[in-house]
Amino acid sequence: MKIILLGPPGAGKGTQCKRVSERYGATHLSSGDILRAERAAGTKLGREAQRYMDSGALVPDQLIIDMMMGAISKCAKGYLLDGFPRTVVQAEALDKALAAAGEKLDAVLNLEIDDNVIVDRMSGRRSCPKCGAVYHVSNQPPKVAGICDNDGEKLVQRPDDRPEVVQNRLKTYHAQTEPVIGYYRKVGRRVIDIDADKPMDDVSHAIFSELDALK
Ligand code: AP5
Repeated sequence: MKIILLGPPGAGKGTQCKRVSERYGATHLSSGDILRAERAAGTKLGREAQRYMDSGALVPDQLIIDMMMGAISKCAKGYLLDGFPRTVVQAEALDKALAAAGEKLDAVLNLEIDDNVIVDRMSGRRSCPKCGAVYHVSNQPPKVAGICDNDGEKLVQRPDDRPEVVQNRLKTYHAQTEPVIGYYRKVGRRVIDIDADKPMDDVSHAIFSELDALK
């Protein structure tokens, strides 16, 4: 299975990718998670990415393309791409690599949601710095407030979830990532629109029924 999840920041891409990965066994590859791991490890790439991420801008295409192509090449059982591609240049690079390998995407899932819902989701998001689990203070709370269910670690708010950065991320999404949806429609990929302004389980069911129908 080779699937792309597109959608604005906070649409629920990461949340749904974890569930799809559990059900179908494909590897969840989140460009944001990989970049945050690079930052935590203090690598050159992580240090370079930091200033873009903290302001809500995109990391330069070539850095991301090299990073993601390396990760994709290790996924023998298929993958769910979360956060990549995020520009038409990245989408073209992925298409070129897939064509060279004689492979094809199964579908592009486009999570649709209004900007005003997103701001609330982002302000309530908390994540575990150790295992990466994602919660929401009211929609998906941990068993003990502020503590990760998996490892007891104290949950943190992502620096780019501050309201002013969220606004920039939304602007960046509309200017640079929304055109990727048009690109995939134009080149004839299967683009499936999913209403992401629903409870998490309803969104998962909608995705599962679309993916089951592909098999
Ligand atoms: P990245 O980490 O990819 O951030 P994002 O795309 O902005 O997406 P998020 O992780 O914020 O949201 P999500 O859709 O996964 O939502 P989630 O499931 O967590 O990228 C961060 C930065 O890295 C970028 O700004 C950029 O600088 C850089 N970067 C990454 N990829 C790049 C690329 N390809 N090119 C260039 N730069 C790149 O859900 C959000 C919250 O809502 C959670 O609290 C969750 O519990 C809750 N929630 C989820 N679903 C629901 C629901 N149905 N109902 C209620 N609450 C819900």
